[in-house]
Amino acid sequence: MKKLYLIGNQKMNMTYSELEPYFEKLTEIASHSTNVVGVCVPYVYINLAKYMLDGSKVLFGAENMHYEDKGAFTGEISAQMLNDFGCDLVIIGHSERRQYFAETDEQVNLKVKKALETGITPIVCFGETLEEREQGLTHTVIERQLTGALADISEEDMGRLIFAYEPVWAIGTGVSATPEQAEEICLFAKKLLKEQYMVNDCIMLYGGSLKPSNAQEILSKPSINGGLIGGACLKVSDFEQLINTKVE
Ligand code: 13P
Repeated sequence: MKKLYLIGNQKMNMTYSELEPYFEKLTEIASHSTNVVGVCVPYVYINLAKYMLDGSKVLFGAENMHYEDKGAFTGEISAQMLNDFGCDLVIIGHSERRQYFAETDEQVNLKVKKALETGITPIVCFGETLEEREQGLTHTVIERQLTGALADISEEDMGRLIFAYEPVWAIGTGVSATPEQAEEICLFAKKLLKEQYMVNDCIMLYGGSLKPSNAQEILSKPSINGGLIGGACLKVSDFEQLINTKVE
């Protein structure tokens, strides 16, 4: 049986009163699962996650962070602050950060390095827009994003990263990549990581409208090790079905 990583990205959705029962249920679901379960939540709920998930099988973390240690960056959160609250994970370079907050490959790289230095596992996101795919630029864009994100990272640290291929056109649209499309890019990314960075094996997630009805097919693809889940992680019964996915 392949060990899968099922990690939720809550984005800006749930509130305190919803999260208490959610974390409780998630702890119970994860305790019966042979897969790895994680959830990334808005900053203000990380304390609640620590309180409710510490000591459970659920990994938790943030959806973003700043790359500086400290300073005059109003509204920002540092890696050390996340570490203070026991974060295992942090999502870096999500396409929504790139699209709505003008995050660049260079900033993604600085964040990845800072997370590693602090001992938090970065989930490095990459993926093309529909326009880029239609123009035949998918591989070029992905190579640029990955090499940009990974500049000056040691071979040893490379092994500590989680990657997430998230085609922008599949995020929140209800239309996922086909299993073949997802596999093709995850394989391409793994080959690139092997050839350019000596990464022999890495955790490669797929994200973009992953849901109970398409998870089995997508997650059974050989180059895909799990999912980064937006919408479907918000309803605990859907997330549960995803967590219970079993593939050979
Ligand atoms: P959806 O699952 O809602 O498409 O979101 C995917 C995503 O962006 C996870 O980071």
